[in-house]
Formats: sequence, structure tokens, C-alpha cells
Amino acid sequence: MIKIAVFASGGGSNLQTLLDASEHGLIKGKVSLVFSNVPECGAMERAENHRVEAISIASKGYPGTREEYDQEVLQLCQAKKIDLICLAGYMRIITPVLIRPYLYKMMNIHPALLPKFGGPGMYGHHVHEAVVKAKEKESGATVHFVTEGVDAGPVILQGNVKVLPYDTPQTLAERVLKVEHQIYPEAVKLYSEGKVKVSGDRVKIIQ
Ligand code: GAR
Repeated sequence: MIKIAVFASGGGSNLQTLLDASEHGLIKGKVSLVFSNVPECGAMERAENHRVEAISIASKGYPGTREEYDQEVLQLCQAKKIDLICLAGYMRIITPVLIRPYLYKMMNIHPALLPKFGGPGMYGHHVHEAVVKAKEKESGATVHFVTEGVDAGPVILQGNVKVLPYDTPQTLAERVLKVEHQIYPEAVKLYSEGKVKVSGDRVKIIQ
């Protein structure tokens, strides 16, 4: 059983799917920590409802550097013996201080088909606005490992949705979110079973 930490900054619907998957025995692991940079967010509340330890360090007004912040987070994860970090709407760019020790042990979910519509500034509704504006025929969601380039790490799973002619960023976001809720628990399940291997800059799923 691996120990999982989920990092979130907002409502936490992806966190919820991981809590449910962990509680229902779908994944060979337990969500044992929820971490946030936003102390009063919905994700913290969801963790408390599930009696999972919820810790936050407010990034707003934090007195140190980004690296010092991540050093604190790293120490927390190491002290709790976290095997896998899942970013689930964690709206903060992570520095190498945390990425390197957790290389290929940290995943993120992104609401588009990477490498399209990723990178700095492409998060949350900005992504769906850009997809609709570009008149894309399809979008979706991507689970990938976190590396030092923003949204650039090896892809673990993707799920597609059609972009419909009458879609607004909001309607598209809702359909993409449903796909996120399917592929994130699935990716964590595969990882927890030791079926996700990185070879070069690609992921191989072993069945
Ligand atoms: C999700 O759509 C997730 O893909 C996105 O934020 C939302 C969080 O929703 N993440 C990013 O844009 C990261 N680049 P949730 O709080 O309901 O899980």
C-alpha cells in the first residue's frame, strides 16, 4: 500500500475521486495527507470530512522564497513517508527543491490534451477559454509526471472530449472535468500496482 498526498488549492473534486478510490479499495494505496497552499479551500474541507490529515501553509504572505516554501513541503512529505504526490488543482508552480526528490513520484492532472494548451499561465478556466478561442475540434485531460518544465513531463493517461460548436469555456470545462474524474483514479491505480514505468521521456503502462 503506497502512501499518497494530494495537493489542491480549490474545490477539490479531483481530490474527492482519489479519496473515494482509496476508500473503496480501487487503488493499492491510501490518501494519507491533503496539502494546500490555500488554508480555507474546499479541498481542506473534503479531507476533514474523510478524516484525512489536512495541512496547509498559506502561500499568500509567505515570508520566504518559493524554494524555502517547497523545502518545508518536502520535509512534511518526507516526515509523513509519502510515496506519491498527486497534484489536483494545485495552482502553484513547484520548484526543483520538491520536484527532484519526487521525480516520477509526483503526478499532475491538466485540463487539456498536453502538449497542447499547457505551460505557464495555462491553468483552470484559461485553458478552456484558449481551446474554445482556437476553435479546436477536441480537448480532454492529461495525467502526467511532474518534471521541471511546466506541464512538460511524461504523459501517463489522456482522455478526450469533443469540442461542440455551441461550447462555452464553462460547458467544455464541465465535460473535461468528468474525464478527469475517470482518468486520475485510473492513473493512480496503475501506479499503485507498479504498472507505470518511465522509459526515456515516455511512460509505458505494463498490463
Ligand atoms: C481541474 O480542472 C484541474 O485539471 C485544473 O484545475 C481544476 C481543479 O478542479 N488544474 C490545472 O489547471 C493545473 N494546471 P478541482 O479542484 O475540482 O479538482
